[in-house]
Amino acid sequence: MNILVTGGAGFIGSHTLIELYKAGHTAVVADNFSNSNPESLRRVAGIIGIPEVPFSHVDIRDREGLEKIFAAHRFDACIHFAGLKAVGESVEKPWEYYENNIGGTLTLLDVMRRHGCKNIIFSSSATVYGDPAEIPITERCPKGRCTNPYGWTKSMIEQVLTDLQKADAEWNVILLRYFNPVGAHPSGRIGENPGGIPNNLMPYITQVAVGKRKELGVFGNDYPTPDGTGVRDYIHVCDLAAGHVAALQAIGRRCGVGVYNMGTGHGYSVLDMVKAFVRVNGVDVPYSIKPRRAGDIATCYCNPTKAKAELGWEARRSIDDMVRDSWNWQRHNPDGYPE
Ligand code: NAD
Ligand code: WQD
Repeated sequence: MNILVTGGAGFIGSHTLIELYKAGHTAVVADNFSNSNPESLRRVAGIIGIPEVPFSHVDIRDREGLEKIFAAHRFDACIHFAGLKAVGESVEKPWEYYENNIGGTLTLLDVMRRHGCKNIIFSSSATVYGDPAEIPITERCPKGRCTNPYGWTKSMIEQVLTDLQKADAEWNVILLRYFNPVGAHPSGRIGENPGGIPNNLMPYITQVAVGKRKELGVFGNDYPTPDGTGVRDYIHVCDLAAGHVAALQAIGRRCGVGVYNMGTGHGYSVLDMVKAFVRVNGVDVPYSIKPRRAGDIATCYCNPTKAKAELGWEARRSIDDMVRDSWNWQRHNPDGYPE
């Protein structure tokens, strides 16, 4: 299939491009590089062994820009990663998040349908479950109250896509609810490249390990979890990338609306992650206990059996693979991609 990949220069998009080409698909990337760098696409091309990944420097809110891409290519489906994703920033700048994520998606969907491309895989998030009603979380678990505007954009876009498909059965919509993506391609050539102070645990750990930050703050050790620190379902980004290829096959079978958790089904605490990182990589990660972070929940991990049963996909890589590959990327690229 030929796939439009919005946000393809970003962390998850760049890894997914590799899995797409490996599976015999081709892709065109649409990215405004607001949180990424074209260097990631050059490196992806090198890993795949092609001269370049076709891309357009375009904002998905730019209707004319999208029209030009659709005029030049025929797409079988879109994998829609493009969006702003910083939880804390979304509380400070809610309008910017709703406008970019929801506004951009509405424009994208309109251009897609005008060109007869009605197959979409959307990057949703475990955050739509809010404080989950059950653990492990299945897809039957009701969606909850999000604690921030970023989460609401995911929840609302899920609703938009579901309603669109209900009204027009030509649409095929797959909502992939990612848990906590970490790791990097084993080559160490591409990985997560956060600007400024990392919000997420793994890039914070790797930046402490490489000497860019003094110590990790562990946000709370009084949660009702085995060691008191928050428990999450970390998933290797290469496994997650493969999940998108599996989802494309379901789209080919005309699936209607499909909702899938993308996690391993295992919960690891903050200190589990730190200890695994130190053990596997032999580097020190100083940390100290800090107060809980507002909006955090104690435990979040999924039941991933629906994706296995219906998509034939499951995560294969271990926590050791995750911490090894995250470190391999960071130590070879201490400052991320060159500007
Ligand atoms: P990322 O920031 O690395 O990638 C997102 C890409 O979208 C970037 O390249 C950015 O430049 C681009 N982009 C943003 N707004 C755009 C716009 N208006 N037009 C064109 N391009 C635009 O993030 P990621 O970690 O790769 O996440 C990809 C998707 O998965 C996002 O939608 C994110 O919300 C979602 N997600 C991420 C996580 C996570 O922990 N990383 C978890 C759940 C869901
Ligand atoms: C993991 C654990 C923290 C940083 C977020 C979004 C979610 C999804 C994934 C996009 C928690 C603890 C963290 C630090 C810490 N993103 N922690 N010190 O909060 O599970 O999920 O990213 O959709 O929507 O909310 O991930 O990596 O921020 O935190 O102790 O410096 O690590 O408290 O227990 P989270 P995270």
